[in-house]
Amino acid sequence: MRAPTTILVTGGAGFIGSHTCVELLDHGYKLIVIDNYSNSSSQVFNRIEKVTDRFVGAVYELDIRDRHALSAVFDRHPIDAVVHFAAHKAVGESTRMPIEYYDTNVAGTTALLRAMHEHEVHQLVFSSSCSIYGDAGRGPLDESTPARPTNPYASSKWICEQILADVCARIPEFTVLCLRYFNPVGAHPSGLLGEDPRGTPDNLMPTVAQVAIGRLSRLRVFGDDYSTPDGTAIRDYLHVMDTAEAHRIALDRLSDTSGMHVFNLGVGKGQSVLEVVAAFGAASGSPIPFRVVPRRAGDVPELVADAGAVNRAWGWRPRRNLADMCGDSWRFQRRNPLGYAQ
Ligand code: NAD
Ligand code: WQD
Repeated sequence: MRAPTTILVTGGAGFIGSHTCVELLDHGYKLIVIDNYSNSSSQVFNRIEKVTDRFVGAVYELDIRDRHALSAVFDRHPIDAVVHFAAHKAVGESTRMPIEYYDTNVAGTTALLRAMHEHEVHQLVFSSSCSIYGDAGRGPLDESTPARPTNPYASSKWICEQILADVCARIPEFTVLCLRYFNPVGAHPSGLLGEDPRGTPDNLMPTVAQVAIGRLSRLRVFGDDYSTPDGTAIRDYLHVMDTAEAHRIALDRLSDTSGMHVFNLGVGKGQSVLEVVAAFGAASGSPIPFRVVPRRAGDVPELVADAGAVNRAWGWRPRRNLADMCGDSWRFQRRNPLGYAQ
């Protein structure tokens, strides 16, 4: 099959999408980007152009579920492959708005698959999530760990994976590389691009960054009574530029692949909440004020990737450590105290 050169990036204005756009432009890919800006801002494209010194390409404000608008994008551009980031991603919000989550994440994915198939585009890189493993227990989890999603967000990603596996089994032209990310954090080292969620962040790293800059008064540490060395929960934090690089390699490899393949993306090493807090304090030069509060509903003690499969398949391994993640995240926050909106 022909190696893809023109890539449709859905959700390309978002956190992982925008960093992936940089990586793809830096490696000569041509991009078409769609996003409805429900959790992002179009300002990000000026930043991407500054960082890469390249034109982003065509950008469309549209909802992934809008079949006609989506079809028109495929009509207009010679798209070879798609990287599908567009989704809602907040676990807590998904328990309050399950219909919205299934509609955007699942119906959005089937709308995309239909448009792809109608336009004879069959190569896809899909954003999945370690949250599908649920409370799978201790130790690094490999891709054979049974999926046991515990909330509508995680279920929506698991349903998408099953749809994609079924589509690949029945329509042999389709090739899907499904990447299950653990906890992508950090920012582009330029300080121009980073994580800028709308409203109050849910995730640890953007919350810590907003405490460090004074937008939030202190971090709430959700539980210090887990059976972990310091009592706080352990996650596998992965630099967003390493995450972006894995997508570029996935696209490089798509044309030599067939069917569906699933890979974990993680470092393979866990860090506790207090270790992240200490590392961010060291990066920003002042300790992060925090208060321990009860556990957050639905949190699990530990989620760490066995990322051996992707290393064996593609030779990919993360190159950046927790100090880099905190340093880059702090640089973005310090230079953009109010995010892209300022
Ligand atoms: P993000 O919210 O920053 O990016 C998602 C983008 O999709 C946003 O720009 C948003 O505006 C857009 N979008 C949402 N609904 C849309 C719709 N209906 N039509 C068009 N655009 C829409 O999130 P992110 O962290 O960059 O996550 C990207 C992908 O990675 C998501 O699929 C998410 O589920 C997955 N993921 C993220 C993480 C993480 O920790 N950030 C971990 C695992 C998986
Ligand atoms: C990390 C740790 C919290 C905020 C979720 C999804 C996962 C992926 C990333 C999308 C936990 C603790 C957090 C705070 C805290 N996203 N924490 N105070 O929950 O591991 O993963 O987002 O797919 O799939 O499940 O990430 O960053 O929210 O939390 O103490 O204010 O930080 O309890 O232990 P999580 P997170």
